[in-house]
Amino acid sequence: MLKKVKPTGEFATLTVGGQQIQLPIVIGSEGERGIDVAELRKKTGCVTLDPSFMNTASCCSEVTFIDGERGILRYRGYPIEELVRKVSFVDTAYLLVHGALPSPGEKRKFSQLLTANSLLHEDMRHFFDHFPRGAHPMHILGTMINALSTFYPNVDLLSMLDDIDLSTARLISTVRTMAAFAYKKSIGDPVVYPRHDLSYCANFLYMMFDSPIKPYVIRPEAVDILNLLLILHADHEQNCSTTAVRTLGSAQVNLYATISAGISALSGPLHGGANQAVIDMLKHIQREGSVKKCIAKAKDKDDPFRLMGFGHRVYKTFDPRAKIIKEECHKFLKAMHVDDSLLEVAMELEDITLRDEYFIERKLYPNVDFYSGIIYRALGIPENMFTVIFALGRLPGWIAHWKEMIGAHTKITRPRQIYVGETLKHL
Ligand code: CMC
Repeated sequence: MLKKVKPTGEFATLTVGGQQIQLPIVIGSEGERGIDVAELRKKTGCVTLDPSFMNTASCCSEVTFIDGERGILRYRGYPIEELVRKVSFVDTAYLLVHGALPSPGEKRKFSQLLTANSLLHEDMRHFFDHFPRGAHPMHILGTMINALSTFYPNVDLLSMLDDIDLSTARLISTVRTMAAFAYKKSIGDPVVYPRHDLSYCANFLYMMFDSPIKPYVIRPEAVDILNLLLILHADHEQNCSTTAVRTLGSAQVNLYATISAGISALSGPLHGGANQAVIDMLKHIQREGSVKKCIAKAKDKDDPFRLMGFGHRVYKTFDPRAKIIKEECHKFLKAMHVDDSLLEVAMELEDITLRDEYFIERKLYPNVDFYSGIIYRALGIPENMFTVIFALGRLPGWIAHWKEMIGAHTKITRPRQIYVGETLKHL
């Protein structure tokens, strides 16, 4: 059961039309304070107006804690800095969904489920043949996940929740296979089936890059860096795609269709799609030969362009994920003997912006997407697959939030609005 938020015993006093009401102030386990407005409309007839939820906590959650001012990110209490050093992505997925790291027995059982669910239904494999050439893999992935609902039509919400390990393993494992198949199809190569003897990340790299004419050598450095990246993307509390997942889930839509909505939300360039947009931007800068020109464009209020991989709704300091990724990016490129000139461009861009008044004033720092693409390039992953990798990482987070919300018997999400259209007219 989801823990209840605690009342502080304090109240915010609100005066509406001469009437005074008291709104309880609640506090979370890390000291975040909120004004509980649940009774507001009933008592005053007013609603709150908060476009884009700049000030609104849409729920209480135990999954992930972020302190945007101090650059802290923890899953179920554990700092990401410790998780990336000590556990695997599969352990992290289990942690997010269950609230605790798996025991050796639980880990064995969960790994077996991942292997057992790693194949796609053969009929599904043929779907890939009918997407237009050049279709973006994120859209293929979203469609394919939605199609899972047609292969498991009788799986109701409660049985999915009851057997959450099976639901999680099926999604995490199948989606990885779908992602690799989508890539193979996009380049016209035969698909590669998963192997039972490989770890989650090694299997993904194998399915992406092995070929009948050129066997893929799985390097441990590549497996480790993918593992790290997936952990760092695994959850980020109430972001746009998680909110989409929670919103659909609240209508009791099945889990596959719900996750498909998360994929769609994540594909946007202001969200997960930014990792691909960063590389486009860095290449553009390189062609133009001027970092300063790009920065001037980002600062120009008459130009909609923004620096991709910069800024965040919650972080007003360095994104802690970006800090780790930047450091690991240097180490990984060195280990793989990769010399990527885009890394130089990225570092110059970061260096100038961190000293620029515009970015300092607005507290805009590199986010998770700024350096991740350079690692993906060194892994040989094509740019249109970057956001797909983000989605693979984010799956456990979406499932954890879905489980938490369904388990708490949350009401259907249904915001209000302030109508500003035409008043009554007659024809
Ligand atoms: N480049 C230039 N200016 C920026 C940027 C940027 N990347 N981000 C924000 N600003 C400016 C913005 O113009 C505004 O200026 P002013 O106060 O003069 O109007 C101010 O900073 C505040 O921006 P905002 O739009 O109110 O911030 P937001 O919280 O609504 O948006 C954001 C957050 C991530 C959408 C935004 O920073 C952005 O568009 N960044 C680029 C896209 C990106 O990297 N997205 C990935 C986010 S992290 C991973 C994820 O969530 O998936």
